[in-house]
Amino acid sequence: MLEIIIFASGRGSNLMAIQEEIESGRLKGNIRAVISNKEDAPALSFAQSKGINAIWIDPKAEGGRRGFERKALQEIGRIGSDCIALAGYMLILSGEFIRDYGKPILNIHPALLPSFPGATAQKDAIEYGVKYSGCTVHFVDEGVDTGPIIAQRAVPVLDADDVESLSARILAEEHKLYPEVLTLMAQGRIHLIDHKVYIDLLDERNYFR
Ligand code: GRF
Repeated sequence: MLEIIIFASGRGSNLMAIQEEIESGRLKGNIRAVISNKEDAPALSFAQSKGINAIWIDPKAEGGRRGFERKALQEIGRIGSDCIALAGYMLILSGEFIRDYGKPILNIHPALLPSFPGATAQKDAIEYGVKYSGCTVHFVDEGVDTGPIIAQRAVPVLDADDVESLSARILAEEHKLYPEVLTLMAQGRIHLIDHKVYIDLLDERNYFR
């Protein structure tokens, strides 16, 4: 069983997709807790509705981002976990946090990295005029959206697209890709060697829909 901690700041649709994969039995894992920096994050209410430990940590009350991270590490240490999955978590994790946690941290980003890192990926893709964008699941390192790429899914960018329509097309793929990657992770089939990720695929059709 893969014990997952989710960090989320908002809507929580990726969290919901991951939880659905667990409930379907495809992903042999558990969401041990959802941790948020936002008290009113819908991700927290979703967690509560599912009986998942929902933890709000107020960065202001903890003296800022590092305080938030220290508190989060305490909670995570108490709860136990195999990995952290960032799902719409809007703060950048410090190098200290990544080192102190010492286990894999994953993120999903709404662009084909290394193109369009940062918080406005869909808008940047439209403005640049790329014909394809998509989503990337990657390991988190100290940079912003720079960690080793685990898996990607492409979608077309249409002339008529605005940020909303492109985001929706990408999000539909995110909801498949993130649970699939966590499923592979639970199966021990993701290997990181020198900043490159290799995946054992016994039968690709069973794992990538
Ligand atoms: C997603 O587009 C994800 O790629 C990005 O933030 C958004 C989170 O959406 N990192 P949600 O909170 O999972 O609905």
